[in-house]
Amino acid sequence: MADWEQERHCPCAREAQAESSSRRSLLAASLVLVAAPLVPAGTAAADNPRRLKPQAGDGLAYMTGEKQGKQITPADLKVGAPPVLAYPLDMASQTVRDGARTNLLALVRLRPDDLPAALKADAADGVVAFSAICTHYGCPITEIHPSGGALVCNCHGSTFDVRKNGEVVAGPATRRLTHLPLKQSEGALLVAGNFSGPLGPPQQ
Ligand code: FES
Repeated sequence: MADWEQERHCPCAREAQAESSSRRSLLAASLVLVAAPLVPAGTAAADNPRRLKPQAGDGLAYMTGEKQGKQITPADLKVGAPPVLAYPLDMASQTVRDGARTNLLALVRLRPDDLPAALKADAADGVVAFSAICTHYGCPITEIHPSGGALVCNCHGSTFDVRKNGEVVAGPATRRLTHLPLKQSEGALLVAGNFSGPLGPPQQ
């Protein structure tokens, strides 16, 4: 039985998780606000590089923290560490594409043996970029499971196995996380293509 399955069957774990979850939900709620910066109403995506979807050749920039807006390198990612939240970065203008929530990414590093076949070509030095928008109700995904192998949404506990290409292993979400292909160039992480599937919750 996987770790997240054992936790779901242990009452004491559930109580501890509920308390922890409540604290993390506050963090997630605050990140929702940070993750949705204001862009002038009526500004078309094509006219505003901040709202453009990730473009091939974009770098990746920290979403928050002391390094907010700074470019991320593979060395910044550790196996089993919490995901690094990032936005695409237009390298020519150094514009962070933070004007669309769906551009938010959760970067994780996997051991070579843990990389599923579906992600091998789209990872850069073991780093994989998943959409950080939960496929349940769209909360930002900010946590790694203690096993180091799954991303966890703080809002309602949906858990996505990164070693199975973002597959849902605990609901309420029902759709896997999509990922963004990456490549490495001169020590930097760069976007190498389009998202592999639909973003966020299924349309109602
Ligand atoms: S929004 Fe992520 S589990 Fe509900």
